[in-house]
Amino acid sequence: MKNIDSYTHVRGESVYLDDIPIVNGTLYAAVFDSPVAHGKIKSLDTNEASDMRAVVRIFTAKDIPGQNQIGGIVPDEELLASDHVHFCGMPVALVVAETEEAARAAVKKIKIEIDPLHIITDPREAKEKGELIIPPRTFQIGDTNNAWSGCEHIVEGSTETNGQEHLYIETQGAYALPLENGGFRVYSSTQGPTAVQRTTARVLDLPMNKIEVDTTRLGGGFGGKEDQATTWGVMCALASYHLKRPVKYSLHRMEDMRMTGKRHPYSSDFKIGLNKDLKIIGYEVTFFQNAGAAADLSPAVMERTLFHCTNSYFVPNVKATAYSCRTHLPPNTAFRGFGGPQGMFVIEAAIAKAADVLGIPASDIQQKNLLKTGDEFPYGQKAESEANECWNKANELYDINKLRKEVDAFNKNNKLSKKGMALMPICFGISFTKTLMNQARALVHVYTDGSVGISTGAVEMGQGVNTKILQVAARIFSIDPSRIKINSTNTWRVANTSPTAASAAADLNGRATEIACNEILNRLKQVAAEECLAVAEIDKTGIPPFEIKEEWIYINGKKTDWNWNKLVMAAYIRRVSLSEHSHYTPPGIHFDPAKEKGHPFAYHVYGTAIITATIDCLRGIYEVDSVKVVHDFGSSMNYLVDLGQCEGGIVQGIGWMTMEELLYNKEGKLMTNALSTYKVPDIYSVPKEIDIHFLQSDKDNLAIFRSKAVGEPPLMYGIGAYFALRNAVKAFNPSADIPYDAPMTPEKVLMSLYQKKEVTSPV
Ligand code: MTE
Ligand code: HPA
Ligand code: MOS
Repeated sequence: MKNIDSYTHVRGESVYLDDIPIVNGTLYAAVFDSPVAHGKIKSLDTNEASDMRAVVRIFTAKDIPGQNQIGGIVPDEELLASDHVHFCGMPVALVVAETEEAARAAVKKIKIEIDPLHIITDPREAKEKGELIIPPRTFQIGDTNNAWSGCEHIVEGSTETNGQEHLYIETQGAYALPLENGGFRVYSSTQGPTAVQRTTARVLDLPMNKIEVDTTRLGGGFGGKEDQATTWGVMCALASYHLKRPVKYSLHRMEDMRMTGKRHPYSSDFKIGLNKDLKIIGYEVTFFQNAGAAADLSPAVMERTLFHCTNSYFVPNVKATAYSCRTHLPPNTAFRGFGGPQGMFVIEAAIAKAADVLGIPASDIQQKNLLKTGDEFPYGQKAESEANECWNKANELYDINKLRKEVDAFNKNNKLSKKGMALMPICFGISFTKTLMNQARALVHVYTDGSVGISTGAVEMGQGVNTKILQVAARIFSIDPSRIKINSTNTWRVANTSPTAASAAADLNGRATEIACNEILNRLKQVAAEECLAVAEIDKTGIPPFEIKEEWIYINGKKTDWNWNKLVMAAYIRRVSLSEHSHYTPPGIHFDPAKEKGHPFAYHVYGTAIITATIDCLRGIYEVDSVKVVHDFGSSMNYLVDLGQCEGGIVQGIGWMTMEELLYNKEGKLMTNALSTYKVPDIYSVPKEIDIHFLQSDKDNLAIFRSKAVGEPPLMYGIGAYFALRNAVKAFNPSADIPYDAPMTPEKVLMSLYQKKEVTSPV
């Protein structure tokens, strides 16, 4: 089954926020944001801007009727700065004009005076000064203090991972329209329509039922629109509230890059201890998360870092502590992997460093410590592991030793170009780490012509969730997929939704859809029993002995002359409901934050990747040659969608680890604020070869149709690219002491190649 959007996507007909037809009288908004990262506002002069042609009004914090507060977890973030600014790019005023051009021209005429205050950009400095978003948390298993004595090898070190710009193709934006009786409709490019609704209601001091948020699809979100789409929806609604006219704001790329938060940079310290058999006996890690200027989702991201701090390995003694550090960067936010990749990088660095010290390949340590079923994670859940299955299958298919020999032979025969290889096993927990968020609802209507309309809380952002939900209904009803339509995500149709995030949207909303469809199907079966079958043919259990197959009704395996349409009409005539609203929540998950123990995940996703890269030892540039993967899909319900998610995730992970370099200067100003200075992977930098093997299993799990969640886990294979490049550098300069500092940009490769050596031509 193809992605249901592919036809309109390739024809340019799919509707995104900026394609919604504009209503007469629509005004355009643009934000004036702080040029300074930290300070007290002395004066704000909007006079010249207000007097400009076509400018309708300029709003500041004083114009907010309800709370000037948009923080989702911690109420620590103003919509518009009232007296202090906390990051470069913090919204201060909202200009509304008759045209986009006029609004942006007026923004340039606003003048602000700010008394500067001390700027912190480094999370370790923030921690020293006690600037924490929430108190630190520690996950623990066993006792690391006693572990070290049993270790043959103990290695310590530090790591840095940088942030990442989401770079969704569609920038942030919203379009608000006033409705009768003081209500509003907000079209929003958001992963969380309910978040937009809730916060708009809070800021405007209205009940949530007055706010309708509607989302057809996003041109990508990647976590960047889980929380931070809210700002723009609320801004448009605020202007619309005062002016009683529709207001739209679709951000320019540079506005978006400057004003929105990104993946969290982390600075971390580790200590790892191994026994003589290379078993990891102890692991201690401290994470300093650069949260930015407000909490946003940082506490939840920090939590997932702790959950994934041992990646795919069993470690009997672990102590992992995390600090969420308040700095003066834009508030950092969700990004594919949600803190998991940051946690996993550190243990991979620890293993790599131990392997260096021992003079063995890191994969020897990795393989020895893979999780087995029954092993306990530091947070108390027991693994149902596919880690060894994936690793062994990868070895069987791709022959790790042979690949290593090829790399070694290449390096022997080449002076100016070197290859490196790395393995990257992954393990990712599926479920929102906040247990209560694991709930979803679906609204299914069967119309009298037999067509079906479905609404859920899931937001389509390119990941194919609508295709999967449609497949669920098609399979349950056994009708042609073309009869089913997935409608926009709308807070008036489906309420109190969790954001589309945590890779869990297809599972949660798919299972809700499954429940609703089954309810309707059971009613239809009852109608069929009464309408078209002799009572005698109903077996003793009372369940009619027939089924619907490809739109025809079968009794005892024999086709009848009743089809789907006839049955639906019969139900309608008998006044049987053809609609259902269902609720799903996964069973068995719980977590106790007081003990930091529980069973937070419905299940885990596993996989192993082998990454090979080649560096040019004169220039420091490189190519990723191949990524060979065995990935645990459970029992995939859509091969193409899942393959696409895997490939996309890998490339995005490689981008984070190798070329995407966010730079803020000491004043907290983003230097890499456009595509000319921020390099993302393009078609030339994707791996020459991506080979993905589906580890298909029909083992029971809580996924929809046992088809495991796939949205985020593959991103973490990209971490292997970092270590492959590192190994290639070491093949050229074995004595190089390369800091664990991602991304491994060509610049850093070049510096490492010639570190501690005379910079002379190696020829
Ligand atoms: N794929 C595309 N094409 N675009 C996206 O924005 N977001 C990712 C992933 N894959 C994203 C994507 C993220 S961060 C998540 S959490 C999941 O999709 C969410 O969707 P799912 O729960 O349906 O997997
Ligand atoms: N993952 C993604 N998004 C989230 C989560 C999570 O675990 N918790 C809250 N938002
Ligand atoms: Mo994804 S980071 O959970 O939106």
